[in-house]
Amino acid sequence: MARIAGKTVFITGAGSGIGQATAQELVRRGGRVAMVDANAGALGEVAARLGDAVWHASVDVTAHDELLAAAAAASKWADGLDAVVANAAVNHIAQIRDIEASDFDRVVAVNLGGAVRTVLAALPQLRRTEGYVLLVCSASGLVQGPYQAAYNASKAGLHAFGNTIRQELAQDGVRVGVAYLNAVATEAAYAAMRDPLMAPLRVEKVMRPRPVAEAAAAISDAIARRSRTVYVPRQARLAAAQPALLQRFTDRWVARRLTDATRKSSDVYGSASEVNP
Ligand SMILES: NC(=O)c1ccc[n+]([C@@H]2O[C@H](COP(=O)([O-])OP(=O)(O)OC[C@H]3O[C@@H](n4cnc5c(N)ncnc54)[C@H](O)[C@@H]3O)[C@@H](O)[C@H]2O)c1
Repeated sequence: MARIAGKTVFITGAGSGIGQATAQELVRRGGRVAMVDANAGALGEVAARLGDAVWHASVDVTAHDELLAAAAAASKWADGLDAVVANAAVNHIAQIRDIEASDFDRVVAVNLGGAVRTVLAALPQLRRTEGYVLLVCSASGLVQGPYQAAYNASKAGLHAFGNTIRQELAQDGVRVGVAYLNAVATEAAYAAMRDPLMAPLRVEKVMRPRPVAEAAAAISDAIARRSRTVYVPRQARLAAAQPALLQRFTDRWVARRLTDATRKSSDVYGSASEVNP
């Protein structure tokens, strides 16, 4: 059985939600965690609770220099890094006709650019330890629904980035995994699911969100085993196995729900709001 004890993991977006729960789970299993997040307040509180097994720094994943400094400092703290988890992300719910280009750019810059920069910053340490990269993606990187164009595009890009670097980094002994998550019960996920624009889709009812601890445990197992993929819930595997089929099904299902909703009311359209994923 692969173990976490004695390993050091660098996690972005560790101040809340799945990143925070994963840090907590890794510490519970005897690991050490270097936690970074742009939200310094939340991160500081979590780090204080987790004690000596964690190191933390306020870092914006779009700032390459900040990430480089953090990865180097974390590696010095732990005498090397065994794994990096690119988890930080934001979302922006809007119809494409209403979205500002700058909002689209920002989501892609954090979710895709931030993950790329995280890997680049940690790579020198990971090549030394023949370590592991885990990219926190989404089932929406494989099959897409409406109103999250920037988020979905960023996660589809992350899926492609993961497949590409898996092949290249194998030469260095660095393994690459991608986590495909769907409807995990974080505040950010509820904020997205409960956005008025999403209401006709009744995502919360259809998806039945999984506990955050389940995602944290699956991610921790993936780190221990250096897994190629991880799916939460397990049914998300279907999106990887049959993306074209599921996309066709999703297109039809969305069209039906939106047509029904339009019949009932016309005032849910036209809003745009900002939430984390
Ligand atoms: N919760 C879900 O249902 C779900 C589903 C699919 C994928 N995911 C993915 O899981 C990951 C975690 O999601 P979550 O639900 O825990 O969300 P969350 O909002 O709780 O966590 C995201 C964290 O990233 C941080 N962050 C945002 N921008 C940053 C930046 N520029 N630099 C550094 N940190 C930044 C936030 O402060 C936050 O702490 C994300 O990659 C998300 O896309 C979540």
